[in-house]
Amino acid sequence: MKISVIGAGYVGLTTAACLAQIGHDVFCGESDIEKLHTLQAGVMPFFEPHLEDVIADSRKSGRLTFGSTEEAIEWGQAIFICVGTPPLGNGDADLSAIEVVARMIAKRAVGYRLIVEKSTVPVQTGAQLRKHLAVHRTQKLDYDVASNPEFLREGTSVEDFLHPDRIVVGVESQRATDLLREIYLPVIDQKIVCPIHSECPQRKAPRFLVTDTNSSELIKHASNSFLAMKISFINMVSDLCEAAGADISKVAEGIGLDPRIGSSFLQPGIGFGGFCFPKDLQAFVRIAEKFGCDFALLKEVERINQSRVDLLVEKIKKELWVLRNKKICVWGLAFKPNTDDVRFAPALSIIRRLLAEGAHIQAYDPEAMDKARKEIPEVAYCQDVYEAARGAEAIVLLTEWEEFRKVDWTHLSTVVERALIIDGRNTLSRDDVTTHGFQYVGIGGVSGAPQMSAILANG
Ligand code: UGA
Repeated sequence: MKISVIGAGYVGLTTAACLAQIGHDVFCGESDIEKLHTLQAGVMPFFEPHLEDVIADSRKSGRLTFGSTEEAIEWGQAIFICVGTPPLGNGDADLSAIEVVARMIAKRAVGYRLIVEKSTVPVQTGAQLRKHLAVHRTQKLDYDVASNPEFLREGTSVEDFLHPDRIVVGVESQRATDLLREIYLPVIDQKIVCPIHSECPQRKAPRFLVTDTNSSELIKHASNSFLAMKISFINMVSDLCEAAGADISKVAEGIGLDPRIGSSFLQPGIGFGGFCFPKDLQAFVRIAEKFGCDFALLKEVERINQSRVDLLVEKIKKELWVLRNKKICVWGLAFKPNTDDVRFAPALSIIRRLLAEGAHIQAYDPEAMDKARKEIPEVAYCQDVYEAARGAEAIVLLTEWEEFRKVDWTHLSTVVERALIIDGRNTLSRDDVTTHGFQYVGIGGVSGAPQMSAILANG
């Protein structure tokens, strides 16, 4: 099918490339001229595993083209709107980019178009889109509007697109349902050429869930909010573990074994970041308010998340006492591993706090340093983990990259000023680290045993 994707951000680019990968003829429109030229020159605007290869292959086979938004509107029978919906000052999602695209479609498109909102939007945006199109369209346009939220995690977005658990479509007509099913059929049947696995692990066909548009929009916001709630919950339990002499890794394992709870998203640490959870949580609270529902639960989730930064800074101060003029090594800047995205990254908030206390920061991240440098130029960005640790009084781990689990601890111990690891993601093995003479400080009493013995000794 001829498909257009509007917006070449994280979601749009993955969607365009993967739709081409599963056999469609895709035109991806981007209004930022500089970004468009970058893509047309075959350069990736951000780091995302496997995406570069999928784009290169699809372009070579002629199934993926980049161009202007106007050209994209003329191209596809289905148009996926993947433009940004950033937060406004009051927490609402800014829908102006969607409005602009809708108006362009209304004025320019000729014939039938299935207009699919993939960007994360408040409930009733589809209804607004329908009204807007009805007001501005020319007589030459016939259309359906559908919602098809994305569940793509940065770092695994290609895998998430090609091997999803579910595909949710919010529709108001059989024609839209049929077209969306046809678009996703290769994924539903798992009849795809997979660019990730030479032999795909046995996978169940994803559920193709058909709902009305309002429900589909709500599913997206509710999913992200629920996951954020799980993280804040485990972070609170983690604080309790630390205070009471329990081990959060065991507690999380124990509660996650209940299939009603599940083991994922129970990793405690410095809290969630990125461009999705923080903004979607705020937007969901605002949406609920508009409909007269006080979602105080989610306000608390946000408050707990913000306090994670304070907690880690306090842990560092507890160990180092005065921070002024101390060299602190930071491993990890991205909001999560396998991405170079530093938007709302807790690592950057922590670094800003340490700099404000007069510390000197030496940082290393495998992918995110260019983006972090633009945000915080006063940090010394280093070539590798060892250079970042040279002369440091503490190594503070803020993003759980695989690379950090494979360091040569013996060598590392020769370059630091003080052998202290503060693991903000509980990602290192305490035994590995302490065997090499490092003091290990984790989150939530992963060093629970000594604390417990201290309690017993005192008691
Ligand atoms: C999230 C959702 O997982 C996707 O399904 C959704 O499509 C996407 O937002 C979106 O709305 O576009 P993403 O933000 O890429 O994806 O990353 P996640 O893997 O969900 O992690 C979010 C944050 O939570 C990260 O900062 C991560 O470090 C943190 N996290 C995650 C924890 O602190 N603990 C955990 O157990 C899991």
